Amino acid sequence: MDSNQIRKSFLEFFKSKEHNIVASAPMVVKNDPTLMFTNAGMNQFKDLFLGNAPIKFPRVADTQKCLRVSGKHNDLEEVGVDTYHHTMFEMLGNWSFGDYFKKEAIDWAWELLTEVYKISKDNIYITVFEGSKEDGLPFDQDAYDFWKKHISPERIINGSKKDNFWEMGDTGPCGPCSEIHVDIRDEAQKRLIDGKTLVNNDHPQVIEIWNLVFMEFNRKADNSLEKLPAKHVDTGMGFERLCMVIQGKKSNYDTDVFQDYIKFLSAKSGINYSSSDAKPDVAMRVIADHLRAIAFAIADGQLPSNTGAGYVIRRILRRAVRYGYSFLDFKEPFIFELTDILSEKMGVEFPELISQRALIKKVIQEEEISFLRTLDKGIVRFQEYISKTPGNIDGQFAFELYDTYGFPVDLTQLLARENKVQVEMEEFNQALQKQKDRSRAATSMDTGDWIELKPGRETQFVGYELLNSPVEILRYRTVKSKGKEQYQLVLNQTPFYSESGGQIGDTGILKRTEDNTTINIVDTKKENGVIVHYAEKMPENLLGSFQAVVDKKKRTLIENNHSATHLLHAALRKVIGTHVEQKGSLVNEENLRFDFSHFSKVTDEQIAEIEKIVNEKIRDNIALNVQVVPIDKAREMGAMALFGEKYGDTVRVVTFDKDYSIELCGGTHVSATGQIGLFKIVSEGAVAAGIRRIEALTADKAEALINSELSLLNNLRDVLKTNDVLKSTENLIQQNADLTAQIEVLIREKIKALKTELKNKIQLINGVNSIIETVDIDSADAIKDLAFQLRGEVENLFFVAGSIIKGKPNITVMIADNLVKEKGFNAGSIIRELAKEIQGGGGGQAFYATAGGNNPAGINSALEKAGKILV
Ligand code: SER
Repeated sequence: MDSNQIRKSFLEFFKSKEHNIVASAPMVVKNDPTLMFTNAGMNQFKDLFLGNAPIKFPRVADTQKCLRVSGKHNDLEEVGVDTYHHTMFEMLGNWSFGDYFKKEAIDWAWELLTEVYKISKDNIYITVFEGSKEDGLPFDQDAYDFWKKHISPERIINGSKKDNFWEMGDTGPCGPCSEIHVDIRDEAQKRLIDGKTLVNNDHPQVIEIWNLVFMEFNRKADNSLEKLPAKHVDTGMGFERLCMVIQGKKSNYDTDVFQDYIKFLSAKSGINYSSSDAKPDVAMRVIADHLRAIAFAIADGQLPSNTGAGYVIRRILRRAVRYGYSFLDFKEPFIFELTDILSEKMGVEFPELISQRALIKKVIQEEEISFLRTLDKGIVRFQEYISKTPGNIDGQFAFELYDTYGFPVDLTQLLARENKVQVEMEEFNQALQKQKDRSRAATSMDTGDWIELKPGRETQFVGYELLNSPVEILRYRTVKSKGKEQYQLVLNQTPFYSESGGQIGDTGILKRTEDNTTINIVDTKKENGVIVHYAEKMPENLLGSFQAVVDKKKRTLIENNHSATHLLHAALRKVIGTHVEQKGSLVNEENLRFDFSHFSKVTDEQIAEIEKIVNEKIRDNIALNVQVVPIDKAREMGAMALFGEKYGDTVRVVTFDKDYSIELCGGTHVSATGQIGLFKIVSEGAVAAGIRRIEALTADKAEALINSELSLLNNLRDVLKTNDVLKSTENLIQQNADLTAQIEVLIREKIKALKTELKNKIQLINGVNSIIETVDIDSADAIKDLAFQLRGEVENLFFVAGSIIKGKPNITVMIADNLVKEKGFNAGSIIRELAKEIQGGGGGQAFYATAGGNNPAGINSALEKAGKILV
């Protein structure tokens, strides 16, 4: 079976067991502050486990794109060095939400592996949770008993909390787990060492392929466990490892999942791949792995950048570039060339790789170009260092290379070795540790546990219709971040919109009915499906009923901008093409910002056309139409959806004229477009390779802009005393150019005359032709010109000029080169002395220097001082 068939059989198997097959959620997580990237198949179902969302399908299966490069599950440094860890990987999973439990999970896993995939029973080992005193949990007898029906007890191993109690992060749903390990060593090796002793011991050929988690608990911030409302199953099987086992390979990279990339890299570098520990082999694995992580992230809308998730992606990309650069001798961009192979290979299962193909390629190429440039600069810096500094390489310098030029220390070590020196590693590690400590201190956040006031979990959002509603506080918690305390509140229902889809969260107040005391709500965000209200102060009494009141004026402005964003999106697709896809959006009360895929500048004519269409749609006063429909129906309607967005099975479709703008959107909108009033684009530019950004204003903000531009124009009319501002300005520019040209001619003539005059005043002092004079020209450029002309025409020149330029004293010193060389004259140090007389400062080179000052009366004494230098 090739990898595509292996994936398909998994999904078909669980379909036959009445599972609903769902698409992979995006790998880049939006709307969850506790997680940057999907690191397990269960992430998208976290709300279901916690009981925050209703269960629609009790049985689900999928393949999920995961990325383990940050937080609790971080494999980055292993990747490529070994043969079975990855940054991005697919996790095949089956779930039960409060439906089947351990028995079925175990029976089906066994059936699939041994009957469908025909993995030999003699190669399988099972681990079960041995229990934990710390958490007060017993040995998982049930799991053990179910396994014993399939496999001999000799092959069942007890595992500790570290290996057999699965947790998503420091907090969240968790439970005991049972892992399936496979021994793929040769028979001879198996006879030598018992496979059982190698389980969970980092052996590359005795590896875990599947983890069955029996979710029963929620880990809280105080480290205690609380029972979940129901029992669930979460399983995750490493797809790439499964392919290795089924295809009888010894390394994930030898399967068809990675071979095409490795073959390409091998051909390009002229180095044979031999699956060894040698650096070129490691490099090919690193690149084959990282390529997928980067491409999938870009397809999900996460571009490389300098902060947050974007920075993680940038670092992965740079790691791949460095390995290629150092060990395969790739000095030009190369990763982008692999993207076509990737789209061919995985595009059927993940269509975003096809639809975003051009963008992925372009973004990767641009990143590569810019990083290779940095690397080159770093190497120049390294060479400078080596040529000046004898002995070993300072750890602090290695850290500078790491921090500023992205040099991993192994690259610096490699360069050091080539120069027969070493890097002071202890110092380097200290510097690195210091930086880590600093960044940890800067981001640390201390989140308390929720304190329950009333039962009830799901917050109903009533803010599409209401801006005002009676509410109760269900729970609250304190969050300390950077020394500031904030409070978070969950209500039974709320009119406050929580930040999402680019629209910022609502602000407003909660007013306690009994005593009219109020608290300000400063922001609203969603966390694991729950709407969380942020307050800077706590009400004294949290019980009783409150009135929640959204800041109406602000909400209206936000809605203007949000609806205008939809009108803009549709106009862009009309004017510049349907390749335009939303890549980011920000909608607040001030303005709107829209990022979209497009490869060239949007021209002024296109901008004008787009504005015209949007303003027409505003004047048409099109009524808002909102429908909640199944996702397939929405697609049929032609709704524009972000690729890789995670949607429930029903979606909200926002339409302004079914022939103009239909979008999947959870945001709030104007009831008819006329309310937007006016739309005006204020800027257009690039944000990254292949991504443009438009910023625009609506309503009174747009009006204010136009008014201020018009009043500027009126002022200009007054100043220019004409109605034809354009013509008049053009005339002025022309006149100015003519006059400047005339002045230049006059100055040239003046310089010529001055030069003759000055030459007549030459005094020969000790073999030096000295000219020390005041000169009457009001232009620094002209004096410079004069000085350089004299330098060309008078031998052994020593020229000091004093002049007044725009009311300020100025001194110029010009000395013939031979005097500088032979007699040690230095215009720079002379000028510093002379400048004191005019209360100023200056500098320059040994043959030419100038100074400006504040005391015009000092010019004479400066020249006198100059006169004494030669005698
Ligand atoms: N959540 C478990 C894991 O990631 C099983 O899917 O290993």
